[in-house]
Amino acid sequence: MHDATAMRLQGFDGRVAVVTGAARGIGRRIAETLHAQGAHVAALDVARPEVPGVVGVEADVTDEAGVRAALDEVEARLGPVDVLVLNAGVFVIEPFADVTLDSWRRTQAVNLDGAYLCARRVLPGMQARGHGRVVAIGSSAGITGGSKACAAYAASKGGLMALTKAIAQEYVADGITANAVAPALIRTPMVDAMPDLAARVPVGRLGEPDDVAACVAFLCSDHASYVTGAVLDVNGGFLIH
Ligand SMILES: NC(=O)c1ccc[n+]([C@@H]2O[C@H](COP(=O)([O-])OP(=O)(O)OC[C@H]3O[C@@H](n4cnc5c(N)ncnc54)[C@H](O)[C@@H]3O)[C@@H](O)[C@H]2O)c1
Repeated sequence: MHDATAMRLQGFDGRVAVVTGAARGIGRRIAETLHAQGAHVAALDVARPEVPGVVGVEADVTDEAGVRAALDEVEARLGPVDVLVLNAGVFVIEPFADVTLDSWRRTQAVNLDGAYLCARRVLPGMQARGHGRVVAIGSSAGITGGSKACAAYAASKGGLMALTKAIAQEYVADGITANAVAPALIRTPMVDAMPDLAARVPVGRLGEPDDVAACVAFLCSDHASYVTGAVLDVNGGFLIH
């Protein structure tokens, strides 16, 4: 396997990056990768993340005041936020007929409202400084509707990817890019509950958090300054469209 932290990309020296949902899984690997590129990284999660070299901050992305306080803390400790990775997410398998309004709202609150709250807090500063990178972790389910019964999740991720494109449109003249990655079948606790998945991936293996982290790091780097409003599939050929 490749090692995303071993990449050498330009554009991270002195930059401050925030990764939400970074206590484990894909978010943690993104935080480690951006740190290895030379960024000053803060990892946000519902319990304070412990990632070597990274500032861990406890924050529930659904809580407006909590998001504000967490990002105030990040800026006080590291400086203004240059890079925002919207990774915090929840995934529930539920036949549509069984989706209660509470369950529906919980998924939208984390996956979509959380992204809105974090982006709204940091975009004015990026705009004032004329530079910013926003990368959202979408999902192939947000494109296809999901091959499992996950309507609330699919709707939230479709919304998140559209929000990312809307940010790209509004801030295109401000030095800010906004892109999404759309992973599928990445080996994390989120998919551990679903056995026999590797056989369904055309490249013959599950994805690793490194596969996503490498793409996110590229989109956050100076090399991607001409890329905005894009959705990059990271799915081993599971979905080609
Ligand atoms: N694993 C996959 O195959 C896959 C595929 C497509 C998309 N994704 C997306 O990638 C992202 C990361 O997924 P993962 O597989 O690493 O999952 P994971 O469950 O291992 O990690 C998700 C993290 O988000 C955090 N989180 C949940 N609710 C939060 C909240 N309210 N506030 C702050 N943090 C919160 C969790 O504590 C956890 O650390 C998610 O957005 C997920 O939807 C994953």
